[in-house]
Amino acid sequence: MPTTLRALQADVTTLAVDAIVNAANRSLLGGGGVDGAIHRAAGPELLAECRGLGGCATGEARITRGYRLPARYVIHTVGPVWHGGRSGEAELLAACYRHSVELAEGHQLASLAFPGISTGVYGYPVDAAARIAVATVRAATERAVYPREIIFCCFSAADLAIYERLLN
Ligand code: AR6
Repeated sequence: MPTTLRALQADVTTLAVDAIVNAANRSLLGGGGVDGAIHRAAGPELLAECRGLGGCATGEARITRGYRLPARYVIHTVGPVWHGGRSGEAELLAACYRHSVELAEGHQLASLAFPGISTGVYGYPVDAAARIAVATVRAATERAVYPREIIFCCFSAADLAIYERLLN
């Protein structure tokens, strides 16, 4: 059975999945946007565990526990800042999705939820980012047993419409 891909509109911190993905920065020490929301909901233990990781390069991913979140784990990935599209942004964004899926697979996690990495403060155009997200996740799960289900968690109805078009 292939991995199921679906999109929904929600606050990712409310999802009771095996792992949610965080759109972090290279320090892994928190920030605004979805990163701030995840740290607030998980509690200070998350920041303590992140301190021990020593940061993360753009395009890579790290896993921690979820603490007070309904999700068991958080996969922290660092998306590229959008500089117009000629600075390797597409490859780096694809690497975020691929490395996150690989971590979930390595931990045999059944369900994984992604927010739109880089599409907030980092300025990546949502349409282009969503196309990369869906194509990369499809390719990365082609022969994978885990995760069984991947959710694209959209904060706005407009973002959800973009993902629904790509998935149908
Ligand atoms: N649930 C789901 N999606 C959310 C939520 C939420 N609770 N909150 C925001 N979004 P951003 P980036 C959406 O800016 O662009 C931080 O300060 C939001 O609408 O959170 O990767 C980090 O520390 C957008 O679609 O992440 C970094 O410094 C998407 O999440 C920097 O921002 C990503 O927006 C990373 O910037």
